[in-house]
Amino acid sequence: MIIVGGSSSRDLAKEMASILGCKYVQAASTRFPDGECYTRIDEESLDDDVVIVQNTYPNDNLIEMFLLQDAVRRMGAKKVTLVIPYFGYARQDRVFKPGEPESAKVMCRHLNMGCDRVITIDIHKEAVLDHFDCPHVDLKAAEVIADYFKDSKIDLVLSPDIGAAGRAKDVGERMGVPYDHLEKTRLSGVDVRIAPAKMDCTGKRILIVDDMISTGGTIIAAAQALKDAGAVSVSVACTHGVFVNNALERLTGSFLDNVLCCNTLDNEVSHISVAGIIADAIRKG
Ligand code: R5P
Repeated sequence: MIIVGGSSSRDLAKEMASILGCKYVQAASTRFPDGECYTRIDEESLDDDVVIVQNTYPNDNLIEMFLLQDAVRRMGAKKVTLVIPYFGYARQDRVFKPGEPESAKVMCRHLNMGCDRVITIDIHKEAVLDHFDCPHVDLKAAEVIADYFKDSKIDLVLSPDIGAAGRAKDVGERMGVPYDHLEKTRLSGVDVRIAPAKMDCTGKRILIVDDMISTGGTIIAAAQALKDAGAVSVSVACTHGVFVNNALERLTGSFLDNVLCCNTLDNEVSHISVAGIIADAIRKG
């Protein structure tokens, strides 16, 4: 098996290859003067099963993925597995207003043209993957998040909304601590309201878990509600640290005690590795 690291995910791909004990090949990626994407795999052939590790966010990385899919096939790849650590457009999984596209489906149908298997991590809506014709699996980061925080003396694990309650349960059960969820209302793309916490937070060290942090609005509001309810410490761990604009600076500069995320997207706080769980899934076939 050969692991090909796209430009979004080189460190993760390298770590996977080292765990699996297989060859790692780095795809070169540059831009033409007009901004178009250029990629090249500097190998004689790829006459083996090939795993491409590359995000489909932001847009340039999606284009690079399409190009890599074509390149590996031309180079003789037998079975092509796409590992898409952070799947862009997954949140637009349905037509919310007439005239909109079903963006997540569009992405799947195009990616579907060049793959035999798809692996994602905590995709926003798992059902999106059913738009692929090939076998697919969405892996859960709960295991590595729980492991990372196991010695942190957390008293309670919470999700910011009911939609992520299963994640809080999964992490809480693995850590052996209680779990619950807050009540969130989304007011706009950037504003959310979190209802005052109903659970007893007084004197507690709380870990908030979520699939992703984008603007940081959800986490700031949730952490504020928990501090107001008497929490002594609030940490946050998400799978995908998208951190648009200056969200990471706002979060690390706030009263949050820890801000951590997985290495599905590279940033200063992506210290929780999902390489092991992806490698396990690949081994299982
Ligand atoms: C929402 O359903 C997601 O699970 C996240 O809570 C949300 O996408 C986070 O976005 P933001 O950081 O912009 O509040």
